[in-house]
Amino acid sequence: MKKNRNLKQSDGKIPSEDSQPRLYSEFSSWFHLLTAPEEYAAEAKFYRNSIISACSFPPRTLLELGSGGGNNASHLKAHFTMTLVDLSPGMLVVSKSLNPECEHLQGDMRNIRLGRLFDAVFIHDAITHMTTEPDLRNAIETAFVHCKPGGGALFCPDHIRETFRPYTEQGGHDGSERSMRYLAWDWDPDPADNTYITDFAYLFREGDKVRCEYDRFIMGLFGRDDWLRLITEVGFQARSIPFEHSTNEHYSGEVFLGIKPA
Ligand SMILES: C[S@@+](CC[C@H](N)C(=O)[O-])C[C@H]1O[C@@H](n2cnc3c(N)ncnc32)[C@H](O)[C@@H]1O
Repeated sequence: MKKNRNLKQSDGKIPSEDSQPRLYSEFSSWFHLLTAPEEYAAEAKFYRNSIISACSFPPRTLLELGSGGGNNASHLKAHFTMTLVDLSPGMLVVSKSLNPECEHLQGDMRNIRLGRLFDAVFIHDAITHMTTEPDLRNAIETAFVHCKPGGGALFCPDHIRETFRPYTEQGGHDGSERSMRYLAWDWDPDPADNTYITDFAYLFREGDKVRCEYDRFIMGLFGRDDWLRLITEVGFQARSIPFEHSTNEHYSGEVFLGIKPA
């Protein structure tokens, strides 16, 4: 992992590089106010069609690694029997509240072994948390070992090196009792390495009280050729497909399919 750059949080603590971002731990219960399940309908349809295109038979079972708040799963579960894996206990709680009918398991996409096969495997934006080539390879290998022959895997990094641009966005939602707004800032202090940074400022409102918190994400950034090589090295046939994000063109680009030979 990268050295952090001595930026301090609002409380003066330097975020630990080995811990999860605060969004996935102490702030996990706010996740659906940052990004709401209903915003994912169009992109989930694209993911479903892409997964189907990678399989030589109609896929029924789908393993999602790094399933987060279960936003995509809330749409995909109508079409697949889903098993959702995430590292964060807090995020699993959030997803279970939305997707109680799905199996939820805690685990690390770099090394979890469930001892069973799925028709297809999906790693959405959580794959962007792989910040080194060995970690990325391990996550892709986890997808491979859980995928049936003739099935496929879909990997959706937020950015690839060729198309990364610095960017600022804001958003958030109102809940029935509390509200959240955020500002997110993608920037890359060293374009030669395999990471970029997303700094977040959160505003949490409860009643008439508002507090502001800071969070930092170190994200992985790999080139198209790295993606295709790693997917091929673990045993898949690799393909890149264009992706048009339904709500934010900054995240449009490409996603990667792994096709497991029958
Ligand atoms: C942005 S969220 C995913 C949101 C998801 N796409 C959705 O539809 O709600 C990223 C998730 O990746 C998880 N994560 C990060 N590193 C992981 C790892 N090594 N293994 C499994 N999950 C991981 C985090 O805990 C977090 O819940």
